[in-house]
Amino acid sequence: MNLIITDNYEEMSQEGAKMILRKILSSKQINLGLATGSTPLGLYKELVKYVRENNINLSGVATFNLDEYIGILPTHQGSFHYYMEKNVFGPLNIPENQRFIPDGMAENILNECRNYEKKIQQYGGIDFQLLGVGENGHIGFNEPGTDFTKTTHVVELTETTRQANKKFFGQVEDVPGKAITMGISTILRAREILLIANGVHKAEAIYQLFHGEYSKDWPVTALQKHKNVCVIVDQEAASLL
Ligand code: GLP
Repeated sequence: MNLIITDNYEEMSQEGAKMILRKILSSKQINLGLATGSTPLGLYKELVKYVRENNINLSGVATFNLDEYIGILPTHQGSFHYYMEKNVFGPLNIPENQRFIPDGMAENILNECRNYEKKIQQYGGIDFQLLGVGENGHIGFNEPGTDFTKTTHVVELTETTRQANKKFFGQVEDVPGKAITMGISTILRAREILLIANGVHKAEAIYQLFHGEYSKDWPVTALQKHKNVCVIVDQEAASLL
């Protein structure tokens, strides 16, 4: 695994954005796997700025999000549909037929999981996957204990994760209890992975990623077996390394 330690959040965001831009510019067609949460907000800002300033053509880019809550509308401010529209799809003008997010309002959620997984494969798989990490080491919404062989599936969110995400909802009671997420196996099939993390609350997860035992207890350790992973963290997140 490649490790880049930056001085701060801004630098982490710039380095991450540059890496994604290089990928976009060097391929005619690229499938990007995208993450939500607070961590990538700075990276997306940088990306939007650069794409706009340089008039970059994104017609060859398709995006696949990692996850979505079950049972809230795409227009709900806490949904990942809303987050993506506001921070990425709107500002970058990504057409609707080039962006995909699991549908947490689907009538048949299990079918939705299967179809999402199929769609990724039909498009030829994910070329470049952006990841954040939860304090408990979750990636996407794959909580501790999740089998690494799982593809897109339904998860029960842990209390820690719901607490961490209440900032997007107001109060923890409003954070849905379930979500659809790409599985670890889906994530590991991406040809290249970039994980970003900042802040001292992520230090333990980053420690486990590099020095922990490969174990379901820390889902992030699944990345130890992937051949092409880059990790960009600020000094606080790197403080236990
Ligand atoms: C969320 C998302 C993850 C994200 C993680 C960290 O629950 N499902 O994709 O990477 O938790 O979030 P944050 O960046 O807000 O710390």
